[in-house]
Amino acid sequence: MKGDTAAVHAGREDLTALGAHVPSIDLSTTYPVTDLASGGDAYDTMAGGGRPEAGMSLVYQRLWNPNVDRFERALARLEGCEQAVAYASGMAALSAVLLSLVQAGTPHVVAVRPLYGGTDHVLASGLLGTRVTWAEPDQVADALTAETGLVVAETPANPSLELLDLSALVAAAGRVPVLIDNTFATPVLQQPGRHGVRLVLHSATKYLGGHGDLMGGIVATDAEWATRLRHIRALTGALLHPLAAYQLHRGLQTLPVRVRAQQQHAATVADWLSRRPEMARVHYPGLPGQDPQSLLGRQLCGPGAMVSFRLAGGFDAAARLVSRTRLITHAVSLGGVDSLIQHPASLTHRPVAADARPDADLVRMSVGLEDPEDLITDLAQAL
Ligand SMILES: Cc1ncc(COP(=O)(O)O)c(C=O)c1O
Repeated sequence: MKGDTAAVHAGREDLTALGAHVPSIDLSTTYPVTDLASGGDAYDTMAGGGRPEAGMSLVYQRLWNPNVDRFERALARLEGCEQAVAYASGMAALSAVLLSLVQAGTPHVVAVRPLYGGTDHVLASGLLGTRVTWAEPDQVADALTAETGLVVAETPANPSLELLDLSALVAAAGRVPVLIDNTFATPVLQQPGRHGVRLVLHSATKYLGGHGDLMGGIVATDAEWATRLRHIRALTGALLHPLAAYQLHRGLQTLPVRVRAQQQHAATVADWLSRRPEMARVHYPGLPGQDPQSLLGRQLCGPGAMVSFRLAGGFDAAARLVSRTRLITHAVSLGGVDSLIQHPASLTHRPVAADARPDADLVRMSVGLEDPEDLITDLAQAL
């Protein structure tokens, strides 16, 4: 099955046999138990991170939910991973991975900046018991210690849109698992698991949902890590709501067409911006000279729908621009059908240490499904 077909059908394989066209939504918080022995077995299986066997009581929604399971199976399929584990948000998903490192006695994390501001913040704070060493990609191997449990990076990075060679990073990490935040690329453009990455994280709030109306997070990985992550989810309870899981599963069906159309619009907008005198620099992997390692085509199918740019007029020009757009909403978040614009240093990357924060003249735009001519007209009047 090709990716577009899997997006439409994954996680729905049993529907015809059930006599249904779309999955029913199961909102049960609790499930009847037939007898104590089988109920206890079911509890042990799922609280330990296992999957329920056919006929088992699901016991309690914090242990299992059928809609969440469908979304997880579908996303795992799109990422080319064995399994996936979904959470209440992207940060909840990251927190579960970090807690798992602490539990395993390998709390040291090597992280490559830039990362989403919230990820940077939780790593820098050590809130969950991890320790971080910040490293450039070519310093990762030297930064590893016997206690290193994870290497973390994003590509394309938020908000600089820099690209990182995943195979080289995995080789540098050696025995240490690599986690890649694949929120910007989505599995439509990049499947990090195919390059040896063990943990692929998404803020499902963004492209996977695609309409700005739900929060979610998910980690696609192998069966061993998925068991560890489900165990932590069962204990700590950062659950994806079944209705959000239903919407996310539905969102996956249009993910490839949305991403490809938004990407096409972004390329038009980035090209237009790159020829404007107000720009000091436009960051978009598809522009000439912005993919020095030739990763487009071999790692990333296309440059995506995120564009960032530095204004020659500095912070003041950036602040003026984001407050003047009319069609493009001035708001954080990204990946929806409507275009958003924001100033990372003031908002999404505010908690990042001053020496690693995005430049004050940088603006980030998430390009949506509007006609690019209308987006350009709005940007022109705002500039
Ligand atoms: C790249 C990236 N990763 C992770 C997150 C965190 O996800 P959430 O807001 O769903 O917790 C975000 C949120 O903006 C993000 O942009």
